[in-house]
Amino acid sequence: METLGFSLSWKKAVLSCCIILAATVLFMMYGDQQRAPTGSGYRSSRVYEQSNADSIEGALHTSGSTQEPALQWFLDDDLFPLEDKEEATGIDPKADRINETCDTCCYRYVTINKGIVEMASEEELAEKGCQQRLPDALIFGVKKGGTTTLKNFISYHPDIAFTQSELHYFTSTTEVQKGLQYYKSKMVYSTPGQVSMEKTPAYSHYPKVPALISRTLPNVKLIIIMRDPVERAVSDFVHLQVTMAQQCPEINLHPVVGNGARGPVSLGAACFNNSKYFISDTFENSVIGLDGAIRYTNQLVSKGVYVKDIRRYLKYFKPDQILALDGEAFINDPYPTVKKVESFLGIRDYFTREHFYFDVQKGFFCLTKPIPNNCMNPSKGRPHPDISEETLAKLREYYRPYNKVLNDLMNVDFNWSS
Ligand code: A3P
Repeated sequence: METLGFSLSWKKAVLSCCIILAATVLFMMYGDQQRAPTGSGYRSSRVYEQSNADSIEGALHTSGSTQEPALQWFLDDDLFPLEDKEEATGIDPKADRINETCDTCCYRYVTINKGIVEMASEEELAEKGCQQRLPDALIFGVKKGGTTTLKNFISYHPDIAFTQSELHYFTSTTEVQKGLQYYKSKMVYSTPGQVSMEKTPAYSHYPKVPALISRTLPNVKLIIIMRDPVERAVSDFVHLQVTMAQQCPEINLHPVVGNGARGPVSLGAACFNNSKYFISDTFENSVIGLDGAIRYTNQLVSKGVYVKDIRRYLKYFKPDQILALDGEAFINDPYPTVKKVESFLGIRDYFTREHFYFDVQKGFFCLTKPIPNNCMNPSKGRPHPDISEETLAKLREYYRPYNKVLNDLMNVDFNWSS
């Protein structure tokens, strides 16, 4: 027993040394930067970078809060291509076959969470004129706007060949340097009559992307699906909490949604990245600063100012090249939205109301055809935490003028809370 006791305390001593050493290294790395109150769920700090706010911010919110140098968890879309992991299941030869075939397609789609199945042999693909083509159309935003569901639903359209993974081609200099042949090689095969598509929601947020896209794909059709920015922010917050739990395995962060899906989550070295997200223990603490003002440079908030992103696109693309969709309307009834997509892309009138049904268990619309009971996986349609009325009111007030400009600019009437 004594030997065991000695061995345990010896191990404890080594463990303590390791912890002290790690803490010292962390302190040396980040100790010069402002530290958050202890016990508030904050565990790391770094000086906040200003977002690429353009002149509209000044015009609309001249008396906005002075953002304190914020403390944040470092998370970035590029670091966490979670969507890819969740959705890109690639070709799965064992996936359930469906009876309905598509003569014009190079692939057969199975359930929306199993991706696509190659239908034909290489000879057959050649016979059909299947090739990997640059995109004719892109879903370019917004993160948490309903982009994956929209992609999955319209992937079943026989005139659409949708690349299942998010390619992030235009957001990465390294990718762009690899050239167009490389980009093409990432696309799914399409027949000459099909619209070749990819979706990367991050395209809407990166300032340099519109110019890059317009140089490469000047005639591309662009689709953006936007939710009520308040809902988007909550959705993004929940998403990042889950992402951190899965991918940052070191430092504890309190769970925020009591649905049992998340235990104590943690943050690791991979999270110390140069992101502009500030994620705290609660949604409220993440979006409202210590002075009670909105943390408007936090990407949880700034990503909801859609009009800034769209304005950048309008510098490079004609208005009729952009389709602006309401993600809230899409949640409530996907049918009118997919019809808008068909007409925008100039493709066949394929979807009918019978393609969709409301799944009570899922709490969202799913597909009945060509595969019955075809719902999004649990990472889409997650439960959201309750948010205080005060925080909601502040956010709504913040977004209201931007949403008004957005409605006017895009000639839409998004009936959101702000
Ligand atoms: P939540 O999971 O927060 O509810 P994206 O695919 O761009 O990441 O967007 C995710 C959001 O799509 C989900 O956010 C969900 O609200 C929304 N969504 C829209 N239609 C949906 C559907 N039929 N099934 C599941 N989620 C849907």
